[in-house]
Amino acid sequence: MYQKIKGTDDLYGDQMKYWYWIEEKARELSTIYGYGEIRTPIFEETKLFVRSVGQDTDIVQKEMYTFEDKGGRSITLRPEGTAPVVRAFVENGMLAQGLPQKYFYIGPMFRYERPQSGRQRQFHQFGAEIFGSPSPIADAELIIFADKLLKELGLVDYEIHINSLGNEDDRIKYKEAIKEYYAQHLESLCDDCKIRYEKNVLRLLDCKIDVKYAENAPKITDYLGEESKKHYEELKRLLTSAGIDYVEDPRLVRGLDYYSRTVFEVHHHRLGAMSAIAGGGRYDGLIKEIGGKEVPALGFAAGIERLILSLKVENVQVDEISKNVVYVIYLGGKEARDEAVKLAELLRSEGIPTGLELMERSISAQLKHASRIGAKLCVIIGEDELERDVVVIKNMETGEQVEFEKSFVVNGIKDMITEMQ
Ligand code: HAM
Repeated sequence: MYQKIKGTDDLYGDQMKYWYWIEEKARELSTIYGYGEIRTPIFEETKLFVRSVGQDTDIVQKEMYTFEDKGGRSITLRPEGTAPVVRAFVENGMLAQGLPQKYFYIGPMFRYERPQSGRQRQFHQFGAEIFGSPSPIADAELIIFADKLLKELGLVDYEIHINSLGNEDDRIKYKEAIKEYYAQHLESLCDDCKIRYEKNVLRLLDCKIDVKYAENAPKITDYLGEESKKHYEELKRLLTSAGIDYVEDPRLVRGLDYYSRTVFEVHHHRLGAMSAIAGGGRYDGLIKEIGGKEVPALGFAAGIERLILSLKVENVQVDEISKNVVYVIYLGGKEARDEAVKLAELLRSEGIPTGLELMERSISAQLKHASRIGAKLCVIIGEDELERDVVVIKNMETGEQVEFEKSFVVNGIKDMITEMQ
């Protein structure tokens, strides 16, 4: 028997209601906040991610699904959505449409990570990107949007962490301070941190093993220049004034290299190790880095699988997907069958989710099936009913049966459904 690839999932059945819930709310709210949808390919030139996410990040070093295609090109399944959206913005000359521009996306991402609850090799993100504004009002609006989305989904048990990574000059000074501080502990650092010390010092702060060193490390906020400080202070003021709860987390550095100034992450309190349900920030240098003009930008992405885990631990009741509210049953010859097809189509054209018997079973087997799939009403068409121009409707909850004249069937069923709600 074939098996799915480790770290991937088949999505079907009852769990789809969570996907519908999140995707529908995300689309709705994106439109309300003025984001247009963008869909980019799921694979890109490998160079795009090396350049944007960063050569020395875990993603590029260990996690990318990279392969050579038949034309000898190095291709990578997208590990994240920002770089492809930026590539599309530059390649399609979208800047000509004026600024700011706001885009959202929903889709699969791929990272070769060690699978566990909340961490997969194919996972899905909802992401939002804003191009054009250097102002902290854009950072504030983005975080307000992320918070609003989580609230609309029904989540409450989360915390928004924010930090500023300053501009490039600030980071140069800060990286020196970090290097100096960690130099004293170099011998006792874990193997990964020894590499980080050489290649990507900010990531030292993110180590899950050497946590005690990060606690006493210098804080980036003490190294921010006037401009970055002002930007960060204004963001905090705007968030407070908008009533957003947040905590400052001076050790928040994020795992992708393109960030500058604002970074943020949302953590769910009850997800354990994989608690980050969303993350993002400003990436003012990335568009230029990828070959475009100097356009400031920012965005965030939320992991849909982790949002679903959060909805489940918080016991949020999401809408059921209504299917097969009515089930059409028939017995007898061609005439009953024709009538069943016609009636099912009529009910469907009225927007009533309707199932039709396709297996040609006995009436008791048909009724049993209707009850298994959760039909609320069964329409029964038999020869006797056909002769009298009526149909029988069975209420599957009470077992009660009523007879309707054919011309009244649709309205009768509508009334019964309303009464049952
Ligand atoms: P990220 O923090 O790498 O940021 O990913 C965003 C979210 O995707 C995480 O908070 C998490 O919920 C989810 N996620 C990441 N990896 C996995 C995984 N292996 N399994 C399940 N869920 C996962 C980005 O990707 C940036 N592109 C966000 C951004 C947009 N920054 C600016 N614009």
